Amino acid sequence: MSLLMSPEAFIFAEKRRCMAAENQTDHKGGILDRDVERVLIDEARLKQRLIELGAAITDTYTGKDLLLVAVLKGSVLFLADLIRHIPIPHEIDFMATSSYGAGVASSGVVRILKDLNKPIEGRHVLLVEDIIDSGHTLAYLTGLLAARNPASLQIVTLLDKPDRREVEIDVAWTGFSIPNEFVIGYGLDYNERYRNLPYIGILKPAVYAQSDAGDPME
Ligand code: IMP
Ligand code: MG
Repeated sequence: MSLLMSPEAFIFAEKRRCMAAENQTDHKGGILDRDVERVLIDEARLKQRLIELGAAITDTYTGKDLLLVAVLKGSVLFLADLIRHIPIPHEIDFMATSSYGAGVASSGVVRILKDLNKPIEGRHVLLVEDIIDSGHTLAYLTGLLAARNPASLQIVTLLDKPDRREVEIDVAWTGFSIPNEFVIGYGLDYNERYRNLPYIGILKPAVYAQSDAGDPME
């Protein structure tokens, strides 16, 4: 088809095709966005805060042997964007946890599904979390990692829900303190979905009222 077009017509058609593709990747109005009650933190605010967090972390760890440990899976997008604003040598590693029992995050007993690949003794460890809710996950992880004698152990979390806290956690850097609502997007899921939304949004209660996975705040 394009063989029959003049170069000008071909360029015009290509521009139209690119504009249509851009509109498709603009998620607003997409199939997942329809389950969002409202956007809590948009992409621009996320980006700005990551620049600030990256600068503060860079200042603290310049000249130190830094290891960022992200907790799977929710922290993956946060980690990936954050380290682009930490322009000093460092390594990354991952841990995966799950909670025992029906009470999901707040049961207080955490199971390690994936441990670190290397020892952390003498290294400066920064735990990277998506969200702190009851605090049980981080209380357990910091206890576990502190026993391995790192040179230092600190926490950066993208989100914090202080109203939900059940155990005290010492957090070095918080992206945003948010109200007591269940949020999705930018790595955070409900029933393993919505991680790919580029913003943090509040899930419509109608979604979990209809889902077998139930109320995520219970
Ligand atoms: P905590 O042990 O109660 O602090 O739970 C932390 C974990 O619960 C987080 O790392 C998330 O995986 C999950 N979580 C807590 N609140 C939310 C939320 O609003 N949306 C998505 N996941 C959440
Ligand atoms: Mg998490």
